[in-house]
Amino acid sequence: MTVHIGAKPGDIAQTVLMPGDPYRAKWAAETFLDDAKLVNEVRGMLGFTGTWRGNRVTIQGSGMGMPSLSIYANELITSYDAQTLIRIGSCGGMQSHVSLRDIIIAMTASTITSPSSAIMKEVNFAPCADFGLLRDAVAAAETRGSKTHVGGIYSSDVFYAERPDLDEQLVRHGILGVEMEAAELYTLAARHGRRALAVLTVSDHLGTGEALPSEDRERSFGDMVEIALAAAFPGA
Ligand code: HPA
Repeated sequence: MTVHIGAKPGDIAQTVLMPGDPYRAKWAAETFLDDAKLVNEVRGMLGFTGTWRGNRVTIQGSGMGMPSLSIYANELITSYDAQTLIRIGSCGGMQSHVSLRDIIIAMTASTITSPSSAIMKEVNFAPCADFGLLRDAVAAAETRGSKTHVGGIYSSDVFYAERPDLDEQLVRHGILGVEMEAAELYTLAARHGRRALAVLTVSDHLGTGEALPSEDRERSFGDMVEIALAAAFPGA
């Protein structure tokens, strides 16, 4: 047990999928895993461990934003020895060629600040995905025929942003989408020598103002979960 995770040692698999929403963790575990068992409910941040095609996997909610994800990812890495951490979540599309329901696989995650910024001091560290996971996720997305974009995303500290000038520069520099967690996940993975990736579904679009109706979300989020699982266990 850790401060925020009640799972016993051994209850957490070496591969962990991390949606922001704990109820999405429950849905994904019930939908995609065999023998899924609840392993954490501290603060309602549900986590489940089961198997996918015979491979053990945990799906643990991260909460919203980098400070919350940082707590769970730190504890999963340092106390439960998680080796592969894949964020699955939603993002806002930023480019005109990115549409609702598309998949974004994040090669890099830019930020203004993250919980790790203080230790980096003057260095603008470039958080990046694990190459092998990225390659296998792209291959899985291509096999499935999902409309997929691979490139840089922006991890924001705010959902209700007040900086149109910043969005303009991010779009100008090819940033595909905005979410709130990946940069810290990539930084922690780099610090501890683990593998990390973020596979995201475009749920809204900053340029057009469109948003996915809630009944549509489950189906498109399912594609993302399957891509993440296939990247974690290539050949399974
Ligand atoms: N901004 C930040 N995070 C998000 C968004 C957004 O528009 N959509 C989904 N996660």
